[in-house]
Amino acid sequence: MADIKIEIDGQIVNAKAGETLIAVTDREGISVPRFCYHKKLSTSASCRMCLVDIEGVPKPQTSCSTPVSDGMKIHTQNDKAKASQKAVMEFLLINHPLDCPICDQGGECELQDVAVEYGSDVSRFSEGKRVIAASDIGPLIQTDMTRCIHCTRCVRFGSEIAGMMEMGGTGRGEDLKIEPFLAQGITSELSGNMIDVCPVGALTSKPFRYELRSWQMASVDSIARHDLTGSNIYAQTYKGQVKRVVSGDNEAVNETWISDRDRFSYEGLAHENRLLAPQIKVSGQWKEVEWDVALDFAVKGLNKHVLNNRKAHQLGGLASNTATTEEFYLMQKLLRELGCENLDYRLNINNLEQAIELASNIKLEELESIDYALVIGSNLRLEQPMINHRLRKAQLAGAQISAVNVKAFDYNFKTNHSTVAPQEIATLLAGILKCILEKQSIELPAYLAHVSSGELSLELADKLLNAESSVIVLGEHIVNNAQAAGIAQLVTEIAKRVKGATLNVSMTANALGAQHANFVPTSSGMNANEMLKADMRAFLLLDVYPEYDFHHASSAIEALSKEDVFVVSINSFNNDVIAKYADVLLPMAAMYETSGSHININHDIQSFKAVVQAPEEAKPAWKILKVLADLLELPGFHYENSTQISGELAHQSVHEHNQNSALALNAKSTKIETIWMHSAYHSDVLLRHAKSLSMSKIGQTNIASMSASTAKELSLKEGDYYLGVPVDITSDMADGCVFVSSNQATMGGLQ
Ligand code: SF4
Ligand code: SF4
Ligand code: FES
Repeated sequence: MADIKIEIDGQIVNAKAGETLIAVTDREGISVPRFCYHKKLSTSASCRMCLVDIEGVPKPQTSCSTPVSDGMKIHTQNDKAKASQKAVMEFLLINHPLDCPICDQGGECELQDVAVEYGSDVSRFSEGKRVIAASDIGPLIQTDMTRCIHCTRCVRFGSEIAGMMEMGGTGRGEDLKIEPFLAQGITSELSGNMIDVCPVGALTSKPFRYELRSWQMASVDSIARHDLTGSNIYAQTYKGQVKRVVSGDNEAVNETWISDRDRFSYEGLAHENRLLAPQIKVSGQWKEVEWDVALDFAVKGLNKHVLNNRKAHQLGGLASNTATTEEFYLMQKLLRELGCENLDYRLNINNLEQAIELASNIKLEELESIDYALVIGSNLRLEQPMINHRLRKAQLAGAQISAVNVKAFDYNFKTNHSTVAPQEIATLLAGILKCILEKQSIELPAYLAHVSSGELSLELADKLLNAESSVIVLGEHIVNNAQAAGIAQLVTEIAKRVKGATLNVSMTANALGAQHANFVPTSSGMNANEMLKADMRAFLLLDVYPEYDFHHASSAIEALSKEDVFVVSINSFNNDVIAKYADVLLPMAAMYETSGSHININHDIQSFKAVVQAPEEAKPAWKILKVLADLLELPGFHYENSTQISGELAHQSVHEHNQNSALALNAKSTKIETIWMHSAYHSDVLLRHAKSLSMSKIGQTNIASMSASTAKELSLKEGDYYLGVPVDITSDMADGCVFVSSNQATMGGLQ
C-alpha cells in the first residue's frame, strides 16, 4: 500500500492508501466512538457510531468502513460529526435498559463510556422499551439480551474466529434478536471471547456474575499453562483471590483470543479439595503439622529409606508436566545432587522406549502462511485450541488441510479427513515417504523395501510434494501408538524431503520446559515406567495424581503404596488416592500462585509472577524444593526468588537423553487398539476442579467411540460400557480401534 498523507482534525498524519480511517485514528490515538468495529473481525459498519465528517462528502461517513486516500480531510469532532454521533447514540439508547447499577459490564462498558460523552441526560422516547426474555446458553456465558445493541461482534466472532456459527440474528426491526440457533447453547472451545468482544453487558462471564466491579480488581499479566501455546492473559484479583481471567494481547502467541480452558480454569483455585496444610502419616493416621515438622519428617524418611544406606538409586522423582520450568530444574538438581538419576515427567506413555522425539520447527504465526497441513492423530480443536485457530486461518486463506485420525473429528475448518486405525499409521507414513523418495529418484532405505504405498499414501505424498510450504502436525493420539517412535522419525524424514516443517503437539503443558530443565532420565537413570517396576524405596512427587496422570495408573498406585516405600508428595490438591500411598503431604501453590516460566511451542520462555498468594499454608513448589534441599544439606540452593533459578538454568546445557535409535518399524499389532484421552477440560488438576468448565458440554464429554464392526468384535452395543465409559457406535471411526474421550480417571480402564 502506498504511503499517503491525510488530515485529521487539522493534524497531518501518515497513512497507507486503502486502510480504513478507524485504523489510522486508532494508531494516532484519536478517539472515534465505535461499537461494531473490532480490529480482528470483518467490517459490518452496522452500528453507525463511528460517523465522521469528510470534507467534500455531503453526508457523514463511517470511519470503520471508509478507506483513506491521499489528501483526505477528516473532522471527528466538528459540529456535523458530533451531531451525527449524538443522533446515533439517541437511537441506540431508545431500547437500552440503562440498568448500569445492576449490570456486570458497568465500569468497563463501551456503551456507558460513549453515552457519557455523546448521550443526553433526557430521553425523548416515552414509549415502553423492548424486553428480551433471558436465555440460558451454557455455564460459561451469562446473557441479558435486552442490553444487546445488535453490533454483531459475537455473531462475527462465531463465524469468523470460532468457526462455529452458533449465534445469529433472528427477526427484523423491533423484533431483531441475537440468539443461539440451537437449544444446546454455545459450545465452542473459544466461546468466552464473545464476552470480551461484546461491547455491552449482553454477554458477561457467568462464573463472575454479580461478583465485583472492574475497578475493584487489580489486573496482573500472566501466562496460561494448560497447553503448548502459553496464551498471554490478565488475571484480575480481589483480596488475594483470582476473580476473573481475560485475554491479553500478543500477536506472536495468542493474538487477542484465549481458550475457555485458559479463561475459566481459575475457578479450581478455590475448590474444597485444595491441600492447605502440611500433613504427615503417623501409624496410618494423617496429622496436620507445622511446616518444619513435615519437612523434618520428609528428610528423616528419605534418609532412613535411601540416603543413609547409599541407596539414592532406589529413589525416584516424578513430576506433572504442568510444573514451571524452574520447578523442574530445581527438582532435578535436588535429585541429582543426591545421586539419583531416576526422574521423569512423561507419565502417560505406555512404552517409553517408543517415546516420540520430534522437534517443532515452525512458529505459530508462520502456520498462517503454509499452503498445506497434514494433521496426524489429533483432535486439534479441543487439544490445542490456539494452534488450531492458526491452522484455521491458513485454511481460510486457501491452504489445504488433510487429517489422518482414528475418528473424523469435528474440525472447525475444511479438512480432507481420513479415518485410519492406529495400527495403520506407521504403514501409511512409510508409504508416503516411499512415494516421495521414488518420485525424487532417491534410493530407498531397507526399511521401506517391503512397504506398499496405498492410494491414501500416494494422495498425501502428492499433496506434500506440490505444496510450497507445508507442515506435518503430530498429535497426542500417537503417544501410545506401538510404533510411536518410528512414526515421529518418518514424519521427520518426510518433512526433510518436501518443503515442510514439523509441529509436535504430542506433548503438552510445559513439557518443553521439562526438557529444557533436563527433567529427563539420562542413560544411568530409570524412566517413569521403569521406576514403577523397580525395587524402589522412596519417591519424591510433584503435583502428581496417578489415577489421571499415569498410563499405568494401577501399577503406579501399587508401586507407590508398597509398604516399605516412603513417599514425599508435593501437591496443590488432595484426594483419597494420594492419602493412601503418601507418607508426607506438602501443600504447594497452584497456577497463578507461583512465579516461574513456561516454554511454548514457539520456544518462547515466558515468565510470570505470582498473581495471588497461595492459600493458607501452601507455598510455591520452588521454595519447598529449596528448603528440602537445604535440610538435606545439599550445596547450591541459596535462591531468594525464582528469577535466580531461571538465571542459573539459562547457563546449563541440556543433557543428552535417550534418543530413539535408527528407524525400524515394529510389527503392527492385530488387536483392537484403544486411545484414551482426557476430555479437554480434564487434562490437568486445576481444570478438573474448575466447576463451570466441568458443567460445559466439552467438560461433560465421556464417550468410547467405535465403529459397528469393532463393537461387534467386542460384543458391545449402544448403552453398554467400555472400560467404564458409555459406548458410542459411529460410522466416523476407523475399524479395529476405540477412541475414548473421558472426564473420568484412567483407572476405569488402562493399566
Ligand atoms: Fe449500562 Fe453498559 Fe450495562 Fe447498558 S450495558 S446497562 S450501558 S453498563
Ligand atoms: Fe453485540 Fe453483544 Fe449484542 Fe452480540 S450480544 S450483538 S456482541 S451487543
Ligand atoms: Fe463503524 Fe459501527 S463502528 S459503523
